[in-house]
Amino acid sequence: MSERRILVTSALPYANGHIHIGHLVEYIQTDIWVRFQKLRGHRCVFMCADDTHGTAIMIRARQEGRTEEAVIADMREAHVRDFSGFDIAFDNYGSTNSEENRELCHEIWGALRKADVVVERTSERLYDPEFQTFLADRFVKGTCPKCGTADQHGDGCEVCLTQYAPTDLINPKSTLSGATPVPRESTQLFVQIEGLHEFLDQWTQTSGALQSETANYLKNHFLNEPLRDWDVSRPAKYFGFEIPDSPGNFWYVWFDAPIGYIASTAEWCQKNGEKLDDWWKNPATEVHHFIGKDITYFHTLFWPAMLKTAGFNLPKKVHIHGFLTVDGKKMSKRDGTFISAATYLKHLDPSYLRYYYASKQGTRLDDLDLNLDDFQKKIDSDLVGKVVNIASRCAKLLAGQTLAPTYPDDGGLFAQGAAASERIAELYEACDYNAAMREIVELANRANEYIDRTQPWMVRKDPARQEEVRAICSIGLNLFRQIVVYLAPVLPRLAQQTGELLGTPVTTWADAQTPLVDKTVHEYQHMMKRVEPKKVSAMVDESKPAEPQVQKMAVAVESAEQQAAEAVREGEALVADSGDQLAAEPLVADHCSIDDLMKADLRVARVIEAKHVEGADKLLQLTLSLGGDVTRNVFAGIKKAYKPEDMIGQLVICCANLKPRQMKFGLSEGMVLAVGPGGSDVFLLRADSGAKPGMRVH
Ligand code: 2FM
Ligand code: ZN
Repeated sequence: MSERRILVTSALPYANGHIHIGHLVEYIQTDIWVRFQKLRGHRCVFMCADDTHGTAIMIRARQEGRTEEAVIADMREAHVRDFSGFDIAFDNYGSTNSEENRELCHEIWGALRKADVVVERTSERLYDPEFQTFLADRFVKGTCPKCGTADQHGDGCEVCLTQYAPTDLINPKSTLSGATPVPRESTQLFVQIEGLHEFLDQWTQTSGALQSETANYLKNHFLNEPLRDWDVSRPAKYFGFEIPDSPGNFWYVWFDAPIGYIASTAEWCQKNGEKLDDWWKNPATEVHHFIGKDITYFHTLFWPAMLKTAGFNLPKKVHIHGFLTVDGKKMSKRDGTFISAATYLKHLDPSYLRYYYASKQGTRLDDLDLNLDDFQKKIDSDLVGKVVNIASRCAKLLAGQTLAPTYPDDGGLFAQGAAASERIAELYEACDYNAAMREIVELANRANEYIDRTQPWMVRKDPARQEEVRAICSIGLNLFRQIVVYLAPVLPRLAQQTGELLGTPVTTWADAQTPLVDKTVHEYQHMMKRVEPKKVSAMVDESKPAEPQVQKMAVAVESAEQQAAEAVREGEALVADSGDQLAAEPLVADHCSIDDLMKADLRVARVIEAKHVEGADKLLQLTLSLGGDVTRNVFAGIKKAYKPEDMIGQLVICCANLKPRQMKFGLSEGMVLAVGPGGSDVFLLRADSGAKPGMRVH
């Protein structure tokens, strides 16, 4: 088999959030594939990086009062730690905010200009004077110009379904700042890919680069009509790279993100004395991307169009997977199933998840379900009960001794396992891990049957049959090792432990072809524990949002004022009072720790909408902006003290992580802080001017 040169990527995670178990489906899938290729003796490198640019990072940096660079530096550290905790072994982990990436963006942009596929168009767009940015349609709300319904998005009315431009809205408001946006001329750059329609038809439909589901999807949704121009620029302020020949315009994050694959390779080449062109401009190199189905469009139309125009290698394959569900549902914070990588690692062994995902991963785009009961059963049964059980039964009987000097007659078991090698390899190659795991577990079943039949623990009782014990256990341990070689891409830790047990590291796929003889069997060290259900529960509990203290305080105050009845009638007045009537209680409550205090996520929020609630004589319904497109709907018991029109634009303090409550009037998603006994004597807490929505109170 000749050596292949393979460059593999996983999608670059955004630098504005932590890695969670949903992301890990892809990183684990890719890491398994890379480890498999390396074990097969191919030259394979695994490239990734943080995806750092765009509006989300800008908003986060503002909310946290830090620079974008500080935010991305911290997140990078967390990402690298999480990935390494799951044994995901990149050859390079770069950043799209690097000089290498800037240079490559310039190179590819130059090629697009040269090919004359960049066009410029000027249009009038809404600009937020407070946030100092042009507003994407989803960041503008106002009254529909057709039917007059308030609170409609910038691109169309949900009520009369009219589509319009955000500049047509009546009384538009920026959801970022609450400010009234102003129309401004903006120049945007577009890349025209229609000229590559024929090439994309061929590449997507006949090159073998895509799963058939994806090829059909593209054929029916995009390639059946002229390809739309791609809006590739964003005006300042934008965190990204400025376009060299269009000052004041920046490349949209999706332009520079995939170029980050090449930039990360460039960094790696510099560190390792390699040439970038060997990896990205030599057709002998295979480029394999692993992505989720949500970003198909970018990777299978724009990206190949850019690569083709700029003379880079096209992907040999784009491997696309479905999403993760947990217990059959979307991951949810409320259910505790939105589990971060770091939380998982606090409670459970990463090998469990690697194996579980592998056992569920097929070649199609179906979603993968992590069923927590099945997870426990599968790990206990397959890994602990079948695979590791072989080693634990045999190694303990042979500890400190050597394997038999020649491999004993095992009735053809080892040879059968060796013969499965190419079949299993093909399954790994096709990312059909589910079928590969089934084949491997079948080998473990046969090995266990052999040990059950030969019962070395019984034979051992007869001093005259010690050589027989050695023979049985030598067979058992060699069958175990063969299985571990096949599992090594999924379970690198188990491969490492097995190498230590038998004094011979697992280094190549071919290690499954030859049994070990005469090697010392070292003291058996525990290899894998059963899954402890209480740890699974603890992980889920920790992933649920904390119950903030403030809520309890508010409830106490309401009842002290005998407002409970009214509150219940109105569904509940979500204002935290801490006024005079508290004097009946101790003046100051018991000590709380900083951690207790910080459980309540108190944020500056701007009231972007305020209205009366029909049938409620105490409540106003407020829409609060927490910065960016984060908003909260809150019912506040302030009606007797504040008029809705006076509330718009105010900066209030909101408890943003208060568990949402279903009230008679709708879902209340937070609480604004106020003091006073209630009724008309309610006084809102406000932030001083200069504070921005989303800033945390600390
Ligand atoms: O969807 C995402 O999470 C993006 N950050 C993926 C980028 S992949 C590549 F194009 F950089
Ligand atoms: Zn309308």
